[in-house]
Amino acid sequence: MRILAADIGFGYTKATDGRQFQVFKSIVGEANPIQFAESLLPSQASQPRHFSIGGEDIFIGELAETQSRGRGFTLDHAQFIAKYAKLLGLAALSPYVEHGDPVRLVTGLPISFFRKYKDALTTLLQQRHTVTVVQANGTREDKTIYIEKVRVVPQPFGSLFNQMLDGQGKALNQRFVTDKIGVIDIGFRTTDFTISDKTRYSERGSLSTDSGMSVAYNAIANLLHEKSGTQVELYRLYEAVTRGVIKIKGQKYDLTVLAQQAYSQLATRIATEANRLWADDWDMDAIIITGGGGAALAPFLQQQIEGEVLPMPTDQDARLNNVAGYWKYGVHIWPAQQAG
Ligand SMILES: Nc1ncnc2c1ncn2[C@@H]1O[C@H](COP(=O)(O)OP(=O)(O)OP(=O)(O)O)[C@@H](O)[C@H]1O
Ligand SMILES: [Mg+2]
Repeated sequence: MRILAADIGFGYTKATDGRQFQVFKSIVGEANPIQFAESLLPSQASQPRHFSIGGEDIFIGELAETQSRGRGFTLDHAQFIAKYAKLLGLAALSPYVEHGDPVRLVTGLPISFFRKYKDALTTLLQQRHTVTVVQANGTREDKTIYIEKVRVVPQPFGSLFNQMLDGQGKALNQRFVTDKIGVIDIGFRTTDFTISDKTRYSERGSLSTDSGMSVAYNAIANLLHEKSGTQVELYRLYEAVTRGVIKIKGQKYDLTVLAQQAYSQLATRIATEANRLWADDWDMDAIIITGGGGAALAPFLQQQIEGEVLPMPTDQDARLNNVAGYWKYGVHIWPAQQAG
């Protein structure tokens, strides 16, 4: 029996079997015949991105982004769960599943939708699913993904479990078990705030807002549009900001100052939200800043958040913090299941 974890975010879908990880953009598109499926250069072996699920032929992630005509994306949670969560989740898990073998899955939902959609998401995923995996060379393989059990947790708790538990699901750091810890999970579209009080979820201290990284990217894209006349897609900005420069139609634009301003403004907005939400929780012991956006904004947030901010592990892509923690939690609640 294998334990698997999936974190299906608005920006990226993340999955792991405890050993390997994969991340792809949360985009689903219609599959269409590609003339030259093979890349012109020998590429690294990557996981499949073409599937047939429930009679629909689909591309996933970067392949959908670049090759699909009809592409699906939504900010509506009900629609996201009903239409995309299952497709993205099954695609992400498929490499880690043996045909027909039962697996157990830990996944999450954003804070504001946790209670409302927890049971619906469980029902949607806890089934025998038949998917057809289409390899780059066109070979099709039918695979039964048998998800025998599903556990849904509030998304930011993944990052907490990741710091709290070791690879055997045992408490590694007692502080996270006994203390009152705030978590700020900054994603692409949303920022989730939550409190774990001796590992108990605090409803009062929990909230989702629209202060995701896309707010900062929008500000940068608008300024670039004024300067260059070109509207740059938001998803293309992370790498450019990291490099500090973007080349548009042959001309280079320096991004360091623009990005500093946009990041600092978004950080101020998030810090204000946190300080207001947690005004009555002055007895909080520490705060974790996580999510892919958390890594980018942490330097700006540290001085503005009222409380002790704990450093995040820097040796791992911060987008993976939640899914890594979901997996450890799976091992914790189903200790007998993880063989080897
Ligand atoms: N290597 C990377 N590539 C792309 N983005 C990265 C990378 N590292 C950090 N990021 C940042 O991570 C953000 C996405 O974070 P994350 O995967 O946690 O969001 P999400 O969970 O998909 O979104 P949401 O929580 O809103 O549903 C990006 O917008 C970007 O700012
Ligand atoms: Mg997220």
